[in-house]
Amino acid sequence: MLTRGARGVLESYVMSNSSGQIFQVVRQAARIEEIIGEHIALRPAGREFVGLCPFHEDRRPSMYVSPQKQIFYCFVCAAGGDVFKFVENYHKMSKGETLRFLAQRYGITLPEFRATNPQAASQRDKIVDANLWAAHYFQSNLAGNAGKAAREYLTSRGVHAATIERFQIGCAETQWTALATAAGKKGISAETLVSVGLVKSRSDGSVYDVFRNRLIFPIVDSSDRVIAFGGRILPSAAPEQNTPGQTDTDQEGPKYLNSPETALFSKRETLYALNLARQPLIRKQLAVVVEGYMDVVGCHQAGVENVVATLGTAMTEQHINLLRRFCNRVALVFDSDEAGRRAADRAIELLLRYPVDVRIAHVPDGKDPCDFCMTHGGEAFEKIIADAKDSLEYAWEKMYTAFQASDSLAGKQRASEALMRLVAPAILNASVDPIRRGLLQKNIADLVGISSDEVHSRIRRLAVSAGRQSGGSGAANPDAAPAMEIDMGLQRAAHWIIGALLCDFSLYQEFRERITVDLFSDSEMANLLARLMEYLEELPDLAAGNLAEFVAVLDDPAMMRLAIQAQAEAERGGNLKQKIDDSLNRLEELSVPRARENQKLDSSQSVTDDADRLKTVVDARMQAVKVNKLQRKLGPRPPGG
Ligand code: UTP
Ligand code: MN
Repeated sequence: MLTRGARGVLESYVMSNSSGQIFQVVRQAARIEEIIGEHIALRPAGREFVGLCPFHEDRRPSMYVSPQKQIFYCFVCAAGGDVFKFVENYHKMSKGETLRFLAQRYGITLPEFRATNPQAASQRDKIVDANLWAAHYFQSNLAGNAGKAAREYLTSRGVHAATIERFQIGCAETQWTALATAAGKKGISAETLVSVGLVKSRSDGSVYDVFRNRLIFPIVDSSDRVIAFGGRILPSAAPEQNTPGQTDTDQEGPKYLNSPETALFSKRETLYALNLARQPLIRKQLAVVVEGYMDVVGCHQAGVENVVATLGTAMTEQHINLLRRFCNRVALVFDSDEAGRRAADRAIELLLRYPVDVRIAHVPDGKDPCDFCMTHGGEAFEKIIADAKDSLEYAWEKMYTAFQASDSLAGKQRASEALMRLVAPAILNASVDPIRRGLLQKNIADLVGISSDEVHSRIRRLAVSAGRQSGGSGAANPDAAPAMEIDMGLQRAAHWIIGALLCDFSLYQEFRERITVDLFSDSEMANLLARLMEYLEELPDLAAGNLAEFVAVLDDPAMMRLAIQAQAEAERGGNLKQKIDDSLNRLEELSVPRARENQKLDSSQSVTDDADRLKTVVDARMQAVKVNKLQRKLGPRPPGG
């Protein structure tokens, strides 16, 4: 392990662009089968090796290691990547530590680390160092005299010492300048403390601690850096604390204070305790998301460790994408109060758009998950998770009950309308995976008891009227829906093209003129193709391409998975050249009606959104270089679009 300071410098070097070379040197020296073989037992299976996957509870060996491709892949939990990824995940190391680990193992001396942007890097280092120091400071407070009230509070909530240790829980003193003074003695500048939100400055230049008399929950990122703090108010020691009617919020400030957003911390992108929950949720292939810090602490203590929490915000797109890297199932467990119900509704709307199996549960009897686990234990909580309702079913039942109560006959009608309205954005959004859209449609049909076609046409009607109401610029786009069936074929073809190229990079030469990102309708595929083209275009020679390197460059588990799967499938089928040719023919054919349709719908918002998304995906340079055969084929646009 590195010291924190050295690690900071190493990280910033690793993140810089110039580091690619050293990674490549180490990757070429390392033998993936050798490294993985040192961690798990491997036996030969054809050209590959197979062993028990360490990233989930594997019963039969399902992790394959390919010496030829220098990648590993688990067919059950879909963990996969190059040798760096394996070490990173297995040892929970950061990128920098992994580089050092492997370089050492193969006797490679790493060059002097020079950050590309030393100022930004040193600023990040300062933030990390100040937060790490503060976390220790808060922890030692809790252990000492100043922590008596906080310790008693934790005991009253049933939190054990081992849990306090595991979550690095601490506390802030009651005085106004305790932390500022202690930090000053350690040579941490007031400026740095202000920038991480640990102190605030007054107009006269003096400073005061932000967190006072609070329980402190450090927020740790995936490379184990303390990036922020959450501070829960403590009941005051004053006797009036027991005055009836007094609540937590009668104390100074809000119940929870969080660090401000910094270069390292964004609430929208962070999930509390993901560092501790990551392996458990990969193992269980299920992420449980709760609302509060204390809920996470309580669940983990009860032995349910695949649990994370949002930080006082609703679930965001970033949260979902973060979780999707590890598993495709999410269970949202909300408090039983009204706020919890509203949070569930908001989350469903967003989550419906993602290819994730989402279930919703509420904790019974006015409790939150923490209290529930403390009283009933982890097994009972696991049961709540197991009984969680599918999100659509949840929404349907809720609407059904609400409308049923008012008028039984028209009730069902209105409920089904409300459900369609909820799901319409996901079904009409062209960026949503077509398979997902089809499934949603079918599920609604089953729930409401009408045919899938009827669902389809009702949603289109809804969209039309929504479009009219919003002057035609609403997100709803009725004509996006018929493209669905075509999209399936397109996706398949995209899959083959990418897979075949990944089997043999030199094929790119031959098809370079015909392959364009805008032939791909699926945004994930288009994204992957854009990355692949970028990679290939930058190679000095196509023969220098290397699958493991490309996979590593992706640095996104979902994309990586897609690439590895596509490659493996194409390889099994063989006939690579033919495959690309056929797929391109198919795409080009199918794209003609699709392109016309898009022209027709130029003013529609969702198509524009989609186009925007694709544009950001496609490297502008590449667009300039590529000649779009389709455009040539279509000729100039008809006047007036
Ligand atoms: P809760 O009030 O449910 O907190 O708020 P909790 O963590 O379960 O704590 P206990 O059980 O009441 O002690 C849920 C989350 O909302 C955010 C925090 O992230 C909290 O964990 N929150 C809440 C704030 O950011 N600010 C607040 O004032 C209150
Ligand atoms: Mn709570």
